Amino acid sequence: MNILIYDTQEQVNKVGATILANIVLAKPNAILGLATGGTPVGIYKELVAKNEQGLLSFSEVRTYNLDEYVGIDGEHDQSYRYFMNENLFNHIDINKANTHVPNGKVADAEAECVRYDAEIEAAGQLDIQLLGLGHNGHIGFNEPDDSQVPGTHVVELAQETRQANARFFANIDEVPTHAITMGVGTILKAKKILLVVKGEDKADIVKQALQGPITTQCPASLLQLHPNLIVLLDKAAGSKLS
Ligand code: PGA
Repeated sequence: MNILIYDTQEQVNKVGATILANIVLAKPNAILGLATGGTPVGIYKELVAKNEQGLLSFSEVRTYNLDEYVGIDGEHDQSYRYFMNENLFNHIDINKANTHVPNGKVADAEAECVRYDAEIEAAGQLDIQLLGLGHNGHIGFNEPDDSQVPGTHVVELAQETRQANARFFANIDEVPTHAITMGVGTILKAKKILLVVKGEDKADIVKQALQGPITTQCPASLLQLHPNLIVLLDKAAGSKLS
């Protein structure tokens, strides 16, 4: 595990973008595993800037996102497809047909999970998976539990996750109760994992995930098993590490 700690969130964004950009520069048709949430927004802005400056092209890149809410479609402004379009895909030279987010608006969400896993499998290994970290240790929407499902699956969201995401909806009742998420097994199959965490409010869970016991009750702790994990933190998020 390689832990990088920077003073500011701006530095974290720049370094995160550089790590992703270097993968695309070395392999123009790289497969990127992407994430939503507040954490990657600044990284995506940096990638857009590199693309606008002609330093980086996404024309051959393929992407697979971690997760999507069940019950809302890609046009909904809180869907993760919409988030990705708004924060990244609409502003870079990527072919939208090469961008993949689970479809949360299907009649059969379980079948969509099987389809999504098969699509990732057929595409080949993800060159890198970008991850944020939930306050409860979740990655994607893999919530703390007695066991974890390896592949893409439907999850019931933890109350604290719905609470955390209610800030984006009119009220908590509008936050979907279920989501489709890549499993921890899918995530761990990526060649490289980039876990990015910012803010003092995540310092305790960062400590638990990286230096605590490996347990399904803290899904991010399973990342300790990955041979090529980069953890990118601001000073506040890394403040409790020994
Ligand atoms: P955040 O969410 O980036 O909005 O803090 C991270 C997560 O819950 O995975």
